[in-house]
Amino acid sequence: MNRLRLCASAALLVGACLLAPHARAASDPCKLEISGNDLMQYDKQELSAPASCKEITVTLHHTGKLPKEAMGHDWVLVNGPDVAAVANAGMAAGAAKDYVPDNDKRVLAHTKVVGGGETTSVTFATSSLKAGGNYQYLCTFPGHSALMHGTFKFG
Ligand code: CO
Repeated sequence: MNRLRLCASAALLVGACLLAPHARAASDPCKLEISGNDLMQYDKQELSAPASCKEITVTLHHTGKLPKEAMGHDWVLVNGPDVAAVANAGMAAGAAKDYVPDNDKRVLAHTKVVGGGETTSVTFATSSLKAGGNYQYLCTFPGHSALMHGTFKFG
């Protein structure tokens, strides 16, 4: 009986230890999470961060199983009107560039491309963003942006 109770307590403690870092991450409004799957979908159509964030970190999880050559996902932040142009420029840049052109001023932040089971993240300064600006994010893997895009709210 005592031994059982000890195990239960230990399990609770381990659980608490495992949960704590997640709870902290979720409560930091400058650290955002988004997932992409094998059905060419992000799990969120909107991400937001308060204007008080000097830096924002976006972590992208690919929750699928397909390799990045077949179902690659990235997360690319642009001004709203630039979504289609950046998607096209990404396609032209090709896989070797992770579908993001070099030094493209329209790209405000981006992750690399990941495949199933992989995670990547990007941390960027918000000095170039305007509170209340019209920002969108997209996946620049060829053909994905029509489905994989969303609104990014800053401030
Ligand atoms: Co994609």
